[in-house]
Amino acid sequence: MSKGLFVTGTDTEVGKTIVTALLAVALVERGLRVGVMKPAESGCLLENGRLAPQDAQFLKHVSGCAAPLEVINPYTFAPPLTPALAAEHAGVTISLGHIRTCYEQLAENHDVVLVEGAGGLLAPLTATHSMRDLATMLQIPVLVVAANVLGVINHTALTVTVAQQVTSVVGVVLNTPQTRDDLAIETNAESLRRWGGAPLLGNIPHLTTFEPSALKTHSTSIDITMLLESLEFDVGLSPSIQPRS
Ligand SMILES: Nc1ncnc2c1ncn2[C@@H]1O[C@H](COP(=O)(O)OP(=O)(O)O)[C@@H](O)[C@H]1O
Ligand SMILES: [Mg+2]
Repeated sequence: MSKGLFVTGTDTEVGKTIVTALLAVALVERGLRVGVMKPAESGCLLENGRLAPQDAQFLKHVSGCAAPLEVINPYTFAPPLTPALAAEHAGVTISLGHIRTCYEQLAENHDVVLVEGAGGLLAPLTATHSMRDLATMLQIPVLVVAANVLGVINHTALTVTVAQQVTSVVGVVLNTPQTRDDLAIETNAESLRRWGGAPLLGNIPHLTTFEPSALKTHSTSIDITMLLESLEFDVGLSPSIQPRS
């Protein structure tokens, strides 16, 4: 049976897409078939007369997921707003049932499906449902991407606590979208080990390129063995890792 993972973050623009890409690359390296999903993407620009979901396209590219883009990203919006509002602007009703159908289609053909949320965990997906509700509906655990800035201890602990109310949290990946001369950046990894509320699975530095070779190199900064164990895969030395159930 396929395993799912919901990738959320302490905020928007914290590196959910980059970390999801690194996870995809690391899991492909382990011989797993990796499906990716970005259920709703806002802030999309027109390309050849169609809205182009950049996150979904990037994740499809790096994971090698062959599913149609409409399955990977069923809802695409122009305004850079939370999906619930972007959908209202577009006169579209987001159906959780449709997202579930797309997810199940991906789960049929892949060992792991990585689902990137939009915004943070309580960002509204519809008038009545948040990103957290989506993770709950899909019955998958959460991974929290935390931006390496002053304040990340609180942001991470809040997100982990709210996620744990409804599902399990496999861990936190600290990521460095911006470089700044900031003492907190040097101490945050250790602080998250103490106070993050979930295992620290990785500490990603600021990257200068997202070329495949760079993604491959930095994907080793994530403890994939620990992640696979949390997802209840049998982790052996064999190139093909069998899901336990
Ligand atoms: N480790 C990193 N090194 C360099 N730039 C990064 C890193 N992580 C994220 N970024 C940049 O920060 C911005 C936000 O990252 P992204 O992954 O799109 O965040 P999110 O998916 O949470 O909105 C993007 O422009 C991305 O290229
Ligand atoms: Mg993103």
